[in-house]
Amino acid sequence: MDGPLLVIDRDDARPLGQQLVDGLRRGILDGRLRAGDAVPSTRSLADELGVARSSVVAAYDQLAGEGYLELRQGAPTRVAPLVRAEERAQRAPVGIEERAQRASRDPHDPPEATALELRPGLPSTARLDERAWRAAWRAAAKHTVPGDIPPVFGSPRLRVEVADHLRHARGLSCSPDDVVVTAGTSDAVALLASALRVLVDGTPRVAVEHPGYPSARRVVQRRGALETVPVPVDADGIDVAALRGIRPAPHAVMVTPHHQYPLGGRLPVAARLELLEWAAASGAVVIEDDYDSEFRHVGAPLPALASLDRAGRAVLVGSFSKVLTPWLRLGYLVLPADPALRSAVAAVRDDETCPVPGIAQEAMAELLASGAVRRHIAAARRDYAHRRRLVLEALAGIRGADPTGLDGGLHAVLRLPAHQVSARVVARLADEGIAVSSLADYSAVPGEGPAGLILGYGSPTDVQLVQALARVRAAVEAELAASVT
Ligand SMILES: Cc1ncc(COP(=O)(O)O)c(C=O)c1O
Repeated sequence: MDGPLLVIDRDDARPLGQQLVDGLRRGILDGRLRAGDAVPSTRSLADELGVARSSVVAAYDQLAGEGYLELRQGAPTRVAPLVRAEERAQRAPVGIEERAQRASRDPHDPPEATALELRPGLPSTARLDERAWRAAWRAAAKHTVPGDIPPVFGSPRLRVEVADHLRHARGLSCSPDDVVVTAGTSDAVALLASALRVLVDGTPRVAVEHPGYPSARRVVQRRGALETVPVPVDADGIDVAALRGIRPAPHAVMVTPHHQYPLGGRLPVAARLELLEWAAASGAVVIEDDYDSEFRHVGAPLPALASLDRAGRAVLVGSFSKVLTPWLRLGYLVLPADPALRSAVAAVRDDETCPVPGIAQEAMAELLASGAVRRHIAAARRDYAHRRRLVLEALAGIRGADPTGLDGGLHAVLRLPAHQVSARVVARLADEGIAVSSLADYSAVPGEGPAGLILGYGSPTDVQLVQALARVRAAVEAELAASVT
């Protein structure tokens, strides 16, 4: 580890720990430190640089969290393995044309075996405090085993913790009695769709964003409301004027005002109020999918619709899928005061029961109470903000391709001039073992809607992300050049 890699400059405005992290990270990205190389012990590096050992420990810890280093007890710390060219070469080659012409996949289907997963929806679990995680499950397992089914709206303790979490994370004031535990957003949407069938004579009609979240749209189509009505979105989110113009008015609308999925707009407060006025006047239910509101990178978070709602029309749907992991299958919804909606939801849950095992609910309550979730969100937010900068740097200045939608969350949108170009880029990258999604798959009106890619930056390590983005850039530039010749 010689040369300028780790020079500590006492006149540098950056804190010492930051200089250590930046220097090591640069060394790994430049290839001066290679996968498998042992880095010096914290003690010897601290002595060599004349810094406190705790600073080196903290720097290694941060780099391990970002995926650059591997820390193992009793063994030297090493540079983490990178995705190698040979791995990609082992993949069966499939023609770009063939792949581009294949029927489009659901962007949320389980990933095929790929070296680099850049489809959206996957968070990083690297920062999770595993000790707190295990302690929560141990504590949950210590309870005497009850002989009855969990309450249909969820464990009382978890409902208290979720209400508390929402107060801190979202500034939303709600009572534990308003909280219904769900097995994630898809379950919440299915529950509300079934409740609409209880409430509405005939076929409920649900307005959905176009483009929008395909899984939720299909859950509505299959499970409860048979008809979905697409509403266009613009740079700010759903077009409320277009929604108001639909006749007859839909019975519900499903929206992502915090960070429109997938395009990334944030609905201004005036439009939120207009949306709620429309709902109050028409008696529609507003389903607010608040899926990644904990991760806002630019501008302060705006109040949830549920905080602004005076007429009792807005249901907030939240999930621990982005905050922790989708593997948990845990989320919640917050019901407004409307008694008819509450009793419809209760009627459905009475028959179907709460799908989340009692022990998982107790463990989640423990985890929230321990403060580990709050700490995790703070650490993950810093990581995602850093990765977002990596995305902006890697994709800046490509003529004809515009990175957008990056003000919050864990994904970016790269707008492209045509669907055919996107399809070819997706196919080219798939051949290289990199999975990305095409905007076409999010369209609520087949064949219509903006063209481009969606790139999730939550789950890969920083190193993998930088490598993958270089290939994304190369693929986009190659296909853009081919499209004009
Ligand atoms: C728009 C949107 N809402 C919600 C979720 C979370 O869904 P679930 O809680 O069912 O895992 C996701 C995950 O990808 C999403 O993209």
